[in-house]
Amino acid sequence: MSTTTIDPALDLFAEIERLKHERRAVVLAHYYQDSEIQDLADHLGDSLDLSRKAQAEQDAEVILFCGVHFMAETAKILNPRKTVVLPDLAAGCSLADSCPAEALRAWKRSHPEHLVVSYINCTAATKAESDVICTSSNAEKVIRSLPADRPILFAPDQNLGRWLMKKTGRPMDLWPGTCLVHVTFSERRIVDLKVRHPQARFIAHPECDPAVLRHADFVGSTKRLLEFVRDSEHQEFIVGTESGILHSMHKAAPNKLLIEAPIEERGGCTSCSQCPFMKLNTLEKTYLALRDLTPRIELDEALRLRAEIPLLRMLAVSA
Ligand code: 13P
Ligand code: SF4
Repeated sequence: MSTTTIDPALDLFAEIERLKHERRAVVLAHYYQDSEIQDLADHLGDSLDLSRKAQAEQDAEVILFCGVHFMAETAKILNPRKTVVLPDLAAGCSLADSCPAEALRAWKRSHPEHLVVSYINCTAATKAESDVICTSSNAEKVIRSLPADRPILFAPDQNLGRWLMKKTGRPMDLWPGTCLVHVTFSERRIVDLKVRHPQARFIAHPECDPAVLRHADFVGSTKRLLEFVRDSEHQEFIVGTESGILHSMHKAAPNKLLIEAPIEERGGCTSCSQCPFMKLNTLEKTYLALRDLTPRIELDEALRLRAEIPLLRMLAVSA
């Protein structure tokens, strides 16, 4: 889709508002989106919030999903009668890429007695091979809900899996996937930063490496991190997750000091912790997606029905 078709004189914010009404569209956005996309969203949230919103949406005919592909696909699985559009179809995820359905099927075959728990960051086909899905918000609840006598395969995020084993005491076999953003944080540089900011709380997403998480004062999903900053009596925070969320954190706690957790130095970039997939969605592509109602998420109905089962189990556990 070419952005050259956009009249440069257009006020894109006004046009998007107009098109939302004309198309009967609702805009769902993840906290890792650019600030301008966060600001125009009807609902902003973490993976769990956005799945619930997508499932509950009644009035709109169109869901414009400003996030990555697996999120928009989840919206389509849970609310198939809506037209679901994603500004850029190439907005993928390193975790989803790491665990194709055929590979998960082979892993299951060699562990026939195991239950399969998949993090929501996976494709519909991988979801369809899973017994239950979780997000970082409800993963602990989901694991604790499983029968104690069944062994567990956990895919695709090994860091979230390790953190869950520590929290629940439940051993699991882990798929070797990682988030390309969260594994870049530097333990050494975070420790240095903590020394320079002794009042600061270091907060981190469970997709970070265990070596980084062991220094965290609080670990949680994007929404929990946001709530922690807003509600804590502390005034300074080192934030170990994708930097897009700092926009919402600043809005929720305008007087608090927020410091991006440093990453390992590579190619001269020492502070960028942005998800390249999330950032494929731009204001221009968001406008075009609403204008043209494309690119759309389309799913084979038999696959959708199989992928819906473990998602509904997740939503029942975390209700
Ligand atoms: P949550 O929104 O569940 O915190 O997940 C973060 C993430 O990496 C989404 O891709
Ligand atoms: Fe995937 Fe990580 Fe990007 Fe989230 S931040 S979409 S887990 S690559």
